[in-house]
Amino acid sequence: MPSSFVQSAAKSGEPGVGAERVVVTGGSGFVGRAVVRAFANRGNPVTVVDRVEPEIPEEHRHLVSHVPGDLTDPEVRDAAVTEGSAGIIHLAAITSVLRSVDKPTETFAENVEVTQGLLELARQRGLTRFVLASTNAVVGDIGYGTISERLPLRPLTPYGATKAACEMLLSGYTGAYGIATTALRFTNIYGPGMGHKDSFVPRLMRAALADEGVEVYGDGSQSRDFVHLDDVVRAIVASWDKQYSGTAVIGSGSSVSVLELIESVRAVTGKELPVTHVPAKNGEMPAVIVEVEKAKRELDYQPSVRFAEGLRTVWDDFRHVADGSVPAAT
Ligand SMILES: NC(=O)c1ccc[n+]([C@@H]2O[C@H](COP(=O)([O-])OP(=O)(O)OC[C@H]3O[C@@H](n4cnc5c(N)ncnc54)[C@H](O)[C@@H]3O)[C@@H](O)[C@H]2O)c1
Repeated sequence: MPSSFVQSAAKSGEPGVGAERVVVTGGSGFVGRAVVRAFANRGNPVTVVDRVEPEIPEEHRHLVSHVPGDLTDPEVRDAAVTEGSAGIIHLAAITSVLRSVDKPTETFAENVEVTQGLLELARQRGLTRFVLASTNAVVGDIGYGTISERLPLRPLTPYGATKAACEMLLSGYTGAYGIATTALRFTNIYGPGMGHKDSFVPRLMRAALADEGVEVYGDGSQSRDFVHLDDVVRAIVASWDKQYSGTAVIGSGSSVSVLELIESVRAVTGKELPVTHVPAKNGEMPAVIVEVEKAKRELDYQPSVRFAEGLRTVWDDFRHVADGSVPAAT
């Protein structure tokens, strides 16, 4: 659970850790909010750079500052990456595969050029770490095979291609300048705070809240790996603390089919969620199956949130939206 993790991190009391300033790009987003909370909870000053204003809880106001604006603007990057900061956790990106297919040039500018600009400021200003939110989409479709870091980069969309390009930039900055750079390749992340997202878990939650049904592409046997936000935050914090340079797949290590996911959401919500099957979309991957052995070895990563328990945190979050209305997708 986020709160238990945050409390144990706050108690860790590692010498010197609390004083390091962390720059979090995309700190107002789904993953970013949880990352900012985790670092602030253990006493790290945090600079959030995001075009959206972050909601900073009262107890963190003395630690968390916001640089507003668009990261494609060099002045915004310049204001965010200050000398004396220890490193950057880079989460801001065009995150939608479909949008990347519609707008490949914009995706290159927002994902690759921004990453290069941030790395260069890190080098010039003596920052020592850089953690990138990457994706298993960098390896493309390998059917029912198991995805690991050993596979060649073979992305099939501008989204995957730009993340692969970012990984290469990180590798170059480690090789040439000794900056500790980590690319964490996340599977599908789920957890509280994803009401604005349009992925399958929040779509199911919205349908459950509204007592509606859901559309499933094809027969629903396609499988995915869902990793809870708490495990993702732990992996990011571990990469930061260990100053690990390299790539690591971060998932639950256990895949479920779309129909199994729906069954689990029915169990958690108590809702019927009737399914309508519609034709499968072209290019949809039949399976995402990952191994997380390298993350376990290098980062002491241990996916620890069980799926039913994790889905419960999302459902509770959806139900407790202040006015009781259904959170909208963006
Ligand atoms: N959510 C997932 O399942 C998943 C899976 C794999 C990888 N990732 C990666 O993790 C990262 C975080 O994803 P998320 O789900 O939290 O996304 P999100 O959309 O919830 O948050 C992204 C945040 O970045 C900000 N942002 C984006 N571009 C910006 C720019 N040019 N200038 C300033 N701010 C900008 C947005 O305002 C937003 O607050 C992304 O890099 C994404 O590609 C996410």
